Amino acid sequence: MYYGVDYYPEHMPEERWEEDARLMVEAGFNVVRVGEFAWSLFEPEEGTFIFDWLDRAIVLLARYGISVVIGTPSAAPPPWLTAAYPQVLMVGANGLPLSPGGRRFTCPTNPLYRRLANRVARAMAEHYANNAAVIGWQIDNELTYGSAPRCYCQECRRGFQTWLQEKYGSLERLNQEWGTVFWSQIYSEWSQIPAPLPSGADHNPGLSLDYARYQSAANVSFLKEQLVILREVCPEHFVTHNFSSPMLDTINNFDLGRELDFVSEDTYPGLFQIIEHMAPGSAVDISPHAGPMMVAWGYDCMRGNKDGRPFWVMEQQSGPAGQTVFSSSPRPDQLRLWVYQAIAHGAQAIVHFRWDTCTFGAEEYWHGILDHDLVPRRRYAEVKQTSHEVQSLGDTAVSARVPAEVALLFSYDADWALAIQPSHPRLKYGAQNLSWYAPFYFANIPVDVIAPDTEDLSRYKIILAPALYVLSPETAQRLTAFVANGGLLITGYRSGVKEPNNQVTRLTLPGRLAEVVGAHVSEYDALYNQTQAVRFTQEHPGGLEEAACEMWADILEPTTARVLATYTQDFYAGRAAVTLNNYGEGKAIYVGAALASEALGQLLVDLATTEGGVQPLAQVPLGVEVTQRATGAERWWFVLNHTNEVQQVTLPGAFSNALQNERVEGTIALEPYGVRVLRPL
Ligand code: GLA
Ligand code: ZN
Repeated sequence: MYYGVDYYPEHMPEERWEEDARLMVEAGFNVVRVGEFAWSLFEPEEGTFIFDWLDRAIVLLARYGISVVIGTPSAAPPPWLTAAYPQVLMVGANGLPLSPGGRRFTCPTNPLYRRLANRVARAMAEHYANNAAVIGWQIDNELTYGSAPRCYCQECRRGFQTWLQEKYGSLERLNQEWGTVFWSQIYSEWSQIPAPLPSGADHNPGLSLDYARYQSAANVSFLKEQLVILREVCPEHFVTHNFSSPMLDTINNFDLGRELDFVSEDTYPGLFQIIEHMAPGSAVDISPHAGPMMVAWGYDCMRGNKDGRPFWVMEQQSGPAGQTVFSSSPRPDQLRLWVYQAIAHGAQAIVHFRWDTCTFGAEEYWHGILDHDLVPRRRYAEVKQTSHEVQSLGDTAVSARVPAEVALLFSYDADWALAIQPSHPRLKYGAQNLSWYAPFYFANIPVDVIAPDTEDLSRYKIILAPALYVLSPETAQRLTAFVANGGLLITGYRSGVKEPNNQVTRLTLPGRLAEVVGAHVSEYDALYNQTQAVRFTQEHPGGLEEAACEMWADILEPTTARVLATYTQDFYAGRAAVTLNNYGEGKAIYVGAALASEALGQLLVDLATTEGGVQPLAQVPLGVEVTQRATGAERWWFVLNHTNEVQQVTLPGAFSNALQNERVEGTIALEPYGVRVLRPL
């Protein structure tokens, strides 16, 4: 297994490198990632390439048996570049160019920028193609992470027009699909089409969604140009990209990951603390247990991205994290716990961010394994212990699958279209998905987060599709077939509302899902100060009798479905709110009411077990997580205590402790932030 650290030799005096390598090896590290922010060293003036400093660092690392992953440096161009070619600067949503000086300030479309980024990547690839210490590449760095997520420059506007021409073929078709007859927008030349910059009133939703798609595609093709070069020049090396948190959603992560050898994620569990303080009560409900849940969500997105295949963690938090303010110190054993959580969800390699803590630059407070004074302390000792421990698990464990019977469809179209027209100010696609995912996380039922165009759904028992706002006929057909063949589909309000062109469907909602769901939405209600609630029928799913409904209510008319809950208030009291339909061999449940999160959780988990036939891996106290990796008949269970207290965990059977070679069964006491890796006997 690869286990190591992100290393910036260019931030360290060269005399120190050997001591770094020695300490790394002592810590059990066998890989470092380097180079992703060193363009101004690699190419100090246009067309002059210098690699000798990195060569010397790699020779030294190799002498210590450490392999190297190199990042291409296109996330931060040198000052000479933007001085000579200011046209490569990104233009923000306010129409103003970004300033150089930070990072991620260039346009993904700009052909000149691409040419320069590709040229340095090629020079690096040619230089390192036959270096035995180099094993792979990371393209760019966190393409989704920047303060201006989309570019609105003239080059992007032209690129958008070309992209539209390819997509629609004719202006007649584009005018039709967007409905440009509205507000006098019928285009008679491609060059008339604007980028959605501020315009006195909202842009056409068709144009806005296509622009979001275009910007995503532009970033994906930016990545692909480097991918082609690396594949050609370094056929023996792997190529990956480090995704930032999947909640940063301006690039379709499925498209980004498609052609990479594997995907990588950057994970900072401690940051959820800061987010809570910066934006109390905002997008996501941050309960004390939400942090580990959101980290798990990220991993389950990575796993779903590549059809269940293992991923790398390319940056794993190693100390207090943050740029100007920072998170708490990871508690004793918490770094170790975070590493195991990644492995528990499908990671095959761990790379800590970062080795030292830099004394200069914008990340002086993004603490590494070593502090500013370079003294190895508690955190060093802990990652050292952890790296040796996880190696003892063996490579089979970290290449095993995380078997999941539940999949959650994450649609970037739905995400972007709902951001354009949320329907209710509090309706956020990411938060909707998390609130449907969380109950499964807390119940220890594994979930893969997958793309709506995933061909083969048959390996899952349950598909969750919250707020599937934009629905293509193909996805609708696949979901219908999934149910017909015996699956359980759970969907709900704001699904099937939009055609792929972002027009509202003329079909009665939930549009193409109405037949499989066996119910129609006869009316919907955005809730503000009204109180609304639902009452469950005698079946009392999840033991529920009544539950509050906030924000949204679809008033349902069952055609073939039976009613699981009805509204209690207002003019639609007594009308259906939640329904269940038998269809073919399977079932479809429609949750029309936006239920308060606790009730939603109880409902979803109850239906998943009673109607969908999935079972939690184990019953454990809140704050303890259980996952499983499996290959053939081999199994590894991960029991993780995310709390600062001892937790009593009753195991469902007898196990051997994979880390200590002892038999365990019955109830075990898991120390604060404690971990067990168990093999069922
Ligand atoms: C990101 C980046 C790194 C670094 C860390 C810490 O994940 O990829 O370059 O900036 O965050 O800020
Ligand atoms: Zn641009």
